Amino acid sequence: MDRIKITGGNELRGIIPISGAKNAALPLMIASLLTSDTLTLENVPHLADVEGLMRILGNHGVDIAVNGRRERQEDGYSRTIHFTCRTIADTTAPYELVSKMRASFWVIGPLLAREGRARVSLPGGCAIGTRPVDLFLEGLAALGANIEIDGGYVNATAPQGGLVGSHYSFPKVSVGATHVMMMAATLAKGTTVIDNAAREPEVVDLANCLNAMGARISGAGTRVITVEGVTSLSGARHRVLPDRIETGTYAMAVAMTGGDVTLQGTDAALLDNALDTLRQAGAEITETESGLRIVRNRNGIQPVDVVTEPFPGFPTDLQAQFMALMTRAGGVSHITETIFENRFMHVQELARLGARISLSGQMARVEGVPRLKGAPVMATDLRASVSLVIAGLAAEGETIVNRVYHLDRGFERLEEKLNRCGANVQRVSD
Ligand code: UD1
Repeated sequence: MDRIKITGGNELRGIIPISGAKNAALPLMIASLLTSDTLTLENVPHLADVEGLMRILGNHGVDIAVNGRRERQEDGYSRTIHFTCRTIADTTAPYELVSKMRASFWVIGPLLAREGRARVSLPGGCAIGTRPVDLFLEGLAALGANIEIDGGYVNATAPQGGLVGSHYSFPKVSVGATHVMMMAATLAKGTTVIDNAAREPEVVDLANCLNAMGARISGAGTRVITVEGVTSLSGARHRVLPDRIETGTYAMAVAMTGGDVTLQGTDAALLDNALDTLRQAGAEITETESGLRIVRNRNGIQPVDVVTEPFPGFPTDLQAQFMALMTRAGGVSHITETIFENRFMHVQELARLGARISLSGQMARVEGVPRLKGAPVMATDLRASVSLVIAGLAAEGETIVNRVYHLDRGFERLEEKLNRCGANVQRVSD
């Protein structure tokens, strides 16, 4: 199994191209199930999760054509992928596939909307919390679906004549349930109003793509989304928005090591809250024509308290990376996780590098230390893994991050991007 070896201590200087967002690409790919025409997605990142979802969609009958060559674009690669689902070949999403990636559960929305039925395995537990699917099921039931759970599977059937628009208010904000409800409602009869919807930029990206396919969605990006059902959707061409989590991760890496890096092709508006927090911590951030420039000179890192919240709050997907940064701050910071109940797996591993962190319920108290020292570490989820990479970049000596497959799920060409800016990161295969 591959590992990553980091020799810490180098500043980062140069340009890092930001990839298309994983969390937008996944629901956009799933939207291809809603039409018999071709949905073409540009700027699709090359990630293990994307490849995994392609296999899952293939099982449902989606024909997938990746442009024969990857188009070299200045500093980065982008892929344009064509998804065509002439007919749904199978309305079952089996356990073996869904258990590997939670987002594959989201096929339930389009399958139900287009075919009137879906049998989708419950995704099961996950390292960062229990992550139930009750909100998805309640939302679909509000559209008239009959839901039964049997043998670990959700069996969902639409009423005769298809799903019916209605008003549903989510008791809790969920990104995935908002995606699913929005996709299902596009083909429902009448109007659906989704209240307390997730406002994440990826929800807006999906709504824009669905509208380009002929859907009638308004209000995406606000708390209330309205979907007027249509009888069918057509194909479209859509560009996946830049990855705000990758953007924030590299911004934090630069704040950690010091240096001067331009994050190319990204958009500050996608992560205002996290960038403000980083400014308070001592990074200089300016918007440039090509993206964002992050500078930290030899000045120290200031402690800043954060609380994770749904968008536009501080994202839970940057919590681990920010904690890595705070381990070197000149004082004490508090990091509160409100989205997932068990998303502090990186704490023990950061401690192996010399961090001083204590946990009390949903809050971590991080006492900055003058230096970190390299060690072998391991992480059990994607964002936790990359937080260890960030810590390793600033640690003295060698840090080995085991279980690299987590990084490959969500960070395109991580070591290449960092090394081109002066880092020393090597992939080691056994
Ligand atoms: C998405 C992101 C993930 C991010 C998360 C929160 C993708 C592929 N993944 O995950 O990177 O960390 O948003 O920003 O886009 N919940 C329920 N019942 C449900 C559904 C969710 O209780 O039916 C809970 C979850 O357990 C969690 C909270 O709601 O505590 C938010 O989860 P949700 O927004 O649904 O996360 P995902 O869409 O899975």
